[in-house]
Amino acid sequence: MSRTMVRVETIPALRRTLGEWRLRDERIALVPTMGNLHAGHLQLVRRAREIGDRVVVSIFVNPTQFGEGEDFGAYPRTLEEDAQALKGAGADLLFSPSVAEVYRRPQEQLSLIHLPGISEMLCGASRPGHFDGVATVVCKLFNMVQPGLAVFGEKDFQQLLVIRRMTEDLDLPVEIVGVPTVREKDGLAMSSRNAYLRPEERKIAPNLHRILREVADKVRAGEGNLVGLKSIARAELTELGFRPDYLEIRRAADLAPPKPEDRRLVVLAAAHLGRARLIDNLPFRR
Ligand code: PAJ
Repeated sequence: MSRTMVRVETIPALRRTLGEWRLRDERIALVPTMGNLHAGHLQLVRRAREIGDRVVVSIFVNPTQFGEGEDFGAYPRTLEEDAQALKGAGADLLFSPSVAEVYRRPQEQLSLIHLPGISEMLCGASRPGHFDGVATVVCKLFNMVQPGLAVFGEKDFQQLLVIRRMTEDLDLPVEIVGVPTVREKDGLAMSSRNAYLRPEERKIAPNLHRILREVADKVRAGEGNLVGLKSIARAELTELGFRPDYLEIRRAADLAPPKPEDRRLVVLAAAHLGRARLIDNLPFRR
C-alpha cells in the first residue's frame, strides 16, 4: 500500500504539516532513525501505524552521538531509497533535517542531556558521551514533533532504557513503545552496520546471537555461576574472531547487576568484527 508521504527538511515546514493534523486531534507517532533503513526499522513504522493516526519518521545521522574516530563520516546515507521504503510502509511524513537545522550553535556551546548511571555503563563505558548525544537529539526531536508516542527497537536495549528514563525524569508527555529485535534468518540482528562486514565476517556474525541464546538458556536452566558463564562466552567470541567490548547479564528493568531474586534479565554484548561494532541482546526470564 502506498499513500502520499510529505517530505520536509526544516522545523517550520514540519510544524506547519503537524499543526493541521493536531487540529484534527490525530495521534502522532514518531519513529526516530538514522536512515539506511532495513526491515527492523520498517517493523517500527508498522507498529507506529497500528497505534498512531499519523506516522512521522525522522532520518538524521546525529553527529553528537558519534565519538572521535567513530563512523559518522562513513555511516551509510541512502535517503532516496529510504524515502521509497517509507512510502511503501505507510509513513505520513519524512523529516530529514540537515545538521545545521538541528544544531544551531558551535559544538562546545550545545546544551546536552546527561543521564547518570544508565548512560555510563556497557555501551556508555565503551563510547563515552554516546548516550548524551542520543538523549539530546531524541529530546529535541520530541520537542520538534511533539508526538503522543514514539517507537524504538529493543535491538538497542540500553538506548531504549535511556530514553524511557529521560522521558520519566524530564516529564516528557510521550509514550515510549518498544519493539522486539528483527533478525535475519540466521539470527543476526538487522543493523545498518552489518554492511561493514566482509563476506567471511558475515558468516561468523550470527554466532553472537547464538552465544547469547546459549547463555540465556543456561541461566534459565538454573546455572547460578554467572561470572563463569560470561567468561566462557567471551572466550568463545574471541576464539571465533570477535573482539568483545563486553558481555553481561543484567536486570532487564535498569541494567543493574542481578540479585538472586531478580527474574527478568537480559544478556547483552558488544563486539567488534572486522570494521563493524556489533551489538545484540536477549531479554529472558528465569
Ligand atoms: P538507528 O540505528 O537508525 O535505529 C533507529 C531505530 O530502529 C532504533 O529505535 C533502533 O533500536 C531500531 N532498530 C534498529 N535495528 C533494529 C532491529 N534489527 N530490530 C528492531 N529495531 C531495530 O538508534 C538510532 O538510530 C539512533 O540512536 C536514534 C534513536 C535515531 C537517535 O539518533
